[in-house]
Amino acid sequence: MTVETIVANITGNPKEDDKIYDKAGEILRAGGLVAFPTETVYGLGADALDVKASAKIYAAKGRPSDNPLIVHIADMDALYKLSSEVPKTALKLAEKFWPGPLTMILKKSDIVPDSITGGLGTVAIRMPSHKVAAELIRKSGVYIAAPSANTSGKPSPTLASHVIKDLSGKIDMIIADDTVDIGVESTIIDLSEEVPAILRPGYITKEMFEEVIGRVTIDPAITDGVKAGVVPRAPGMKYKHYAPKADVTLLEGTFEQFKAYVDAHADQNPSCLCFTGEAEKLGWPCVEYGREGDGADQAKHIFRSLRALDEQGDGVVYARCPKKDGLSMAVYNRLIRAAAFRVIQL
Ligand code: TXA
Ligand code: MG
Repeated sequence: MTVETIVANITGNPKEDDKIYDKAGEILRAGGLVAFPTETVYGLGADALDVKASAKIYAAKGRPSDNPLIVHIADMDALYKLSSEVPKTALKLAEKFWPGPLTMILKKSDIVPDSITGGLGTVAIRMPSHKVAAELIRKSGVYIAAPSANTSGKPSPTLASHVIKDLSGKIDMIIADDTVDIGVESTIIDLSEEVPAILRPGYITKEMFEEVIGRVTIDPAITDGVKAGVVPRAPGMKYKHYAPKADVTLLEGTFEQFKAYVDAHADQNPSCLCFTGEAEKLGWPCVEYGREGDGADQAKHIFRSLRALDEQGDGVVYARCPKKDGLSMAVYNRLIRAAAFRVIQL
């Protein structure tokens, strides 16, 4: 079924923008789908408490129904409505990092439908800081369930053009404002069990958490993938996310080692995913994904670079390996999944 997708550009003029929020709110309250920018990536929103509306999210994205959605809120009241048990750790983290790129997993309350939690007893909650996201939640008056606004298996969208490419004709409205800043999705921390565990790395790092709440663990699936026979704590971990058409392999080592390895595999007609400024030194078709050693710059560009790689089609791609500290860990996590966990130590 094809629908007419409204694309509305945020102008900065309050009167004009209010019309956009009014229309988007109307669509959300009527059970429709609206894509909108956040500080991390674009989200695809629906009324979280409307079972039929959230079912449309799964259909539009082609998302497996057991992969739960994050509920986006604009105030602390909402946290108590959606969760049956708000631990002190959650309050401390909310105070420090909300609004912002943090998603907390908590025990769900009865108003949260099973259809958005994949049948789990927990719910993922985030209070975004992006002005458009926050205004939309406030003005629509609904809690907004929103996964990233990409087709399942594609890189998350950081530009309106990505959303248009993936979802035009499948959703009611796209609010366009290319001020998405961070470029990778929110950090997910599970606070529903004894020891808090990071289920997805993002802008907020383990060190930043530990300063506020003490010991935090990192789920091993973040760097090693989901082992056979293990039920992942975030259902999304088991899906082949961020999968480019090409066969990507990460090469861990120096630039010189990287170049030597790629040159030695000339018969494969390889392309490279490399750091900024390296393309011309490599002499192979390249997509650059940010400055070496600069996790923030890499995070900002990684998804659009993976999309650019897709435009080049399939084939063999060798990728420079980012560091694994700070925000680089989030970039490494996305890349290693794009590479189906193929890493070669040079
Ligand atoms: O930055 C973000 O978080 C973006 C923007 C739009 O806010 N949203 C986003 O949503 O990345 P999505 O659906 O692409 O990723 C949500 C992840 C999935 O891996 C899912 O499995 C996990 O969160 N998740 C959701 N609810 C969960 C729960 N109750 N327990 C464990 N994992 C959960
Ligand atoms: Mg996603």
